[in-house]
Amino acid sequence: MEEGPEVAHYSLRLAVEFGAGPPPGGRAWGRARYRLRAACPPAPSPPLRLDTRDLAVLSVRLAGGGDLPFSLGSPRGSGGVLGRELVVRLPAEGLPAGAEVEVEFEVGPGSSALQFLGPAQTAGGKRPYLFTQCQAIHARSFVPCQDSPRVKATFEASVRCPAGLTALMGALACDEPPESVARMEPPAPGAGAGGQETAEFFFQQPVPIPSYLLALAVGELASRDLGPRCRVWAEPCVVDAAAMEFAETEKFLQAGEDLLGAYSWGRYDLLMLPPSFPYGGMENPCLTFVTPTLLTGDRSLANVVAHEIAHSWTGNLVTNGSWEHFWLNEGFTVFVERKILGRVYGPQVLQLHASRGFLELKATVARLGPEHPHTRLILDLSGGSDPDDAYSKVPYEKGFYFLYFLEQAVGGAGAFEPFLKAYIQAFAGKCVDSSDFVDRFRAAFPEAAAGVDWDAWLYGTGLPPAANSYDDSLAAEPYALAAAWHFGDVMGLGLDSFPEGTAAGDLEGFSPVQREAFLEKLGELRCMQPLGKRTCRLMGPAYGLDGSTNAEVRCAWYKLCADAGDLTVLGHTVEFLGQQGRMKYLRPLYRALSRQPGAREAAVAAFEGNRAAYHPIAAKMVAADLGLDRGGGADQ
Ligand code: BES
Ligand code: ZN
Repeated sequence: MEEGPEVAHYSLRLAVEFGAGPPPGGRAWGRARYRLRAACPPAPSPPLRLDTRDLAVLSVRLAGGGDLPFSLGSPRGSGGVLGRELVVRLPAEGLPAGAEVEVEFEVGPGSSALQFLGPAQTAGGKRPYLFTQCQAIHARSFVPCQDSPRVKATFEASVRCPAGLTALMGALACDEPPESVARMEPPAPGAGAGGQETAEFFFQQPVPIPSYLLALAVGELASRDLGPRCRVWAEPCVVDAAAMEFAETEKFLQAGEDLLGAYSWGRYDLLMLPPSFPYGGMENPCLTFVTPTLLTGDRSLANVVAHEIAHSWTGNLVTNGSWEHFWLNEGFTVFVERKILGRVYGPQVLQLHASRGFLELKATVARLGPEHPHTRLILDLSGGSDPDDAYSKVPYEKGFYFLYFLEQAVGGAGAFEPFLKAYIQAFAGKCVDSSDFVDRFRAAFPEAAAGVDWDAWLYGTGLPPAANSYDDSLAAEPYALAAAWHFGDVMGLGLDSFPEGTAAGDLEGFSPVQREAFLEKLGELRCMQPLGKRTCRLMGPAYGLDGSTNAEVRCAWYKLCADAGDLTVLGHTVEFLGQQGRMKYLRPLYRALSRQPGAREAAVAAFEGNRAAYHPIAAKMVAADLGLDRGGGADQ
């Protein structure tokens, strides 16, 4: 975005309608008022610039005044991914600070931020559903906005939707329309124009947020309190299971506060979405969105909640100023996530997650190649490329690895944690790039800083330039078991009997996270030589892997089998690909199947069958992975 007035506050009136379907669909309209931060001088002053993509702009005017001339630029960025800029010419006499511009718009059917679900795609099966996913640059296809993480604004909103459904936003709910919204007309034609009954919901977000944290969901929703400031929302038939799964939320929040200072957002609620939600979790302010694949019954995937809670400080308060410095959001958040897990479950659990994280980093670097630009901590997104295409585990795990390395370099947590807290407090409410962090580290720890090869860490490709070591007490057994299987298997195309040191009940004493560590280690060893088919057939039934209901285990196991050419679980795999739409599972599995001559056709057929049900972002990424469409990325 170029120079021009900056928006300080958004007032939004939104209206949502669902189509009669199938296919599932719907429409959304909005009226947005933009309060400008500073006075605009008289002409020639720069115009107001807003990002849009797949939005129809119906009118632009001065709030309470006349129409303003505007233009929509041509699509920018590679493949038009950056969308069209809405340029609004401001009055020649200038505007006082706090003046407001109003835009009326309709969300187009191609909007990548929204997914409308038909009843059949929900758990309850009776009512339709809508949710948004704005990170990284999809907010512009929901509401015209200054869609850069560098611009933070507060907002107030109203949402009208069909009666009987509940609307939620990443904000605090209000009983009455907030003042700035009450002054606005509803958007035209507005929901309910067809005569159906509607309901209206009100929200305010008093903490300034970047546009990528804008979030809305509409569906048949119920809630359960988890504590004084936490509640979980989900469809009524799954809300009790969700409440049990996420019961530790308040504990995580307290651990986060202990580490980084008071929680600034008032409430921390969770919304468990239908299965097509493309991420594990999304840190929408006051209301984290999570995938229902976290429902295991044993809280074993609760680290995702710890992660999203950690974003309350790293990301949502201290925000990467551009997507090239995404590691400042995600690497820091993984670091805080693991600190929270360490405080709640003990230091060895932190070490186990750190060790698994390094396996993930190695797997990502092996897949992309050690010189791939996406293996750099600081990414290069110049030339208008889509941040979604550069998405991988690198910012998460290389970022974590770097911070852990720095913590060791300054003598451990006793020195590093207070520094981290002061960094958060210094930059709260602001945006940062990597040099803000490096400068602060250098000032606090000049001696340690002198020994760090900053360029290699920040700009080097491939694995990190120095090695961490983790306490292996919880990882040792699963890793040793994986090694026993691997070495037993290496000689032939598979084993007929259990290799030495293994037995049918091996996994029973493992925690769910240790089971995942076992499979991840097998995956790493497999890079040297795929497991044999016969070994898969011996291990799968004996360890209960073929019939697992834990999504992490299913994904890792089906992938090992696919890579081994063992298609016995192809039916289960295809079933799994149709049951949920989390990219973390879809992408590796589709890729693994498409590499197998006997499975590629089944993978493509499964994708074509599921495509309409997947989230638009997931569908685009998987299509690119399968080589079906042009564009899209090769990562994750
Ligand atoms: N903010 C991310 C999800 C995201 C990243 C959405 C980039 C769009 C673009 C979220 O906090 C996240 O990292 N989720 C992970 C959780 C995991 C690391 C515990 C996920 O979805 O798997
Ligand atoms: Zn994250």
